[in-house]
Amino acid sequence: MQRTRLFKSSIFRFTLIYTAVFGLSVALPFGLVYETTVSSIDRETNAAIVSELRALGDEYERLGLESLVEILNERSLDPTDRDAIYLLVDDAFRPLAGNILEWPKEPIPDPAWLRFDMQIVEGGQSTTHRIRSQVLHLSGGSYLLVGRDMQQRRRVQSSVRGALGWALALALGIGIPGGIFVSRWVLRRVERMAETSLEINQGDMRRRMPVGEAGDEFDRLASSLNAMLDRIEQLMTGMRAVTDSVAHDLRAPLTHVKGRIELTLRGPRDAEAYRSALTDALAETDRILDVFNALVAVAQAESGVTRDQMAVVDVGDLARDVVDLYEPLAEDRGLALVLSAADGAWARAHRQLLAQALSNLIDNAIKYTPEGGRIAVAVRRADGQVEIEVGDSGPGIPEGERERALERFARIGHPATPGYGLGLSLVAAVARLHDAKLAVGASDPGRKVSPGLKVSMVLPGAAEPMRAADP
Ligand SMILES: Nc1ncnc2c1ncn2[C@@H]1O[C@H](COP(=O)(O)OP(=O)(O)OP(=O)(O)O)[C@@H](O)[C@H]1O
Ligand SMILES: [Mg+2]
Repeated sequence: MQRTRLFKSSIFRFTLIYTAVFGLSVALPFGLVYETTVSSIDRETNAAIVSELRALGDEYERLGLESLVEILNERSLDPTDRDAIYLLVDDAFRPLAGNILEWPKEPIPDPAWLRFDMQIVEGGQSTTHRIRSQVLHLSGGSYLLVGRDMQQRRRVQSSVRGALGWALALALGIGIPGGIFVSRWVLRRVERMAETSLEINQGDMRRRMPVGEAGDEFDRLASSLNAMLDRIEQLMTGMRAVTDSVAHDLRAPLTHVKGRIELTLRGPRDAEAYRSALTDALAETDRILDVFNALVAVAQAESGVTRDQMAVVDVGDLARDVVDLYEPLAEDRGLALVLSAADGAWARAHRQLLAQALSNLIDNAIKYTPEGGRIAVAVRRADGQVEIEVGDSGPGIPEGERERALERFARIGHPATPGYGLGLSLVAAVARLHDAKLAVGASDPGRKVSPGLKVSMVLPGAAEPMRAADP
């Protein structure tokens, strides 16, 4: 099983390619050296044979056969050139001079290059040497053969071949284990990813791909897969939050309305009682709708599904719109609502959700600040960031409770003031959606009594968008 998988796997192919490349990179340079060496030896040998044969032929023409015999006998004894071969024979191929005993059996080819083998005894050992020679048919009928013993060339050839063999063996020795090692290493990482994805497939959504420390392609792949899994999980959590919230948090008020209607129906058929019950039910369903809308907005912001609908918006402009909307209400309550908005505070934002978050903050400030108080809304630009701040002169939230106030359905004190405890949780979700820093603090920490609440949200700023050209 293991074995067939190994051969089917990329390990096998990888190793094969690795070894082939390794082997070729050794064999090619060796082949080149071999070719150049051998052909240069051949060229030099041939040139030497041709020129010597021509010179001897000229000598013969000039001085005659006897002088040629003398010269050949002299050269045959020359110890400096032991590879040189000479033989002069008469027209019946009987030897006249030279350093080999008999004319080779091979026929004389045309052109007159003659290659033949010869037994040479050296140090009591007889070996076959290859001779390369050229033959000249002299005018008197005799034949002159001049050649070279090619043993030297053979030695070079065989030593280069031997070296090539060793080098190839070495290349394979390194290449095959190297290829197996490298491909195993690669495959092991791929396999680990496959195992993890199988586990995730089987329902363990919390599992993540193993990421090494090298930061290589595999690590980058694993990281981006993990980021994708995070995003999927986030979306799923968001969806679950919507369904959970709707199922759980709306059941109680709906049951309440239902009970109320049933009770009324069971009572006397009194038009006044019906009217009052229907009015109550209407008010209750309005509240249910409010909660429903708030929950959906929180879940949307939390899951990030609205991220695609983000655009670069002028936050100062947005704040102006929201403040305008709340001005009459603030006036009614005898509160001063002031805005100071910087120009060009651009940020990438979901306009509707950001406006709703700001509305919730101003709504809280109006709701919890006693008459005669002051609410200050500010939009600032600093260090490429955009800050939205809402401060009031109300009772504030005790330090230890500020964190909890951001949770869903968290209400801190003020039981007489209507509310669901959802406003700040939407603010927190919108801040997360915008990668913004949210801070809940005291608006005037110096004052002992009624320090007020200050909520600030710092978003990453954006460049001003290009305006479309006017037509
Ligand atoms: N500006 C404020 N001053 C004092 N307390 C505040 C202020 N804003 C919020 N809080 C406290 O934090 C709690 C949570 O606020 P949040 O806006 O989430 O809910 P809510 O205002 O009670 O209800 P909802 O906003 O859902 O109608 C509030 O119940 C209140 O106790
Ligand atoms: Mg609120």
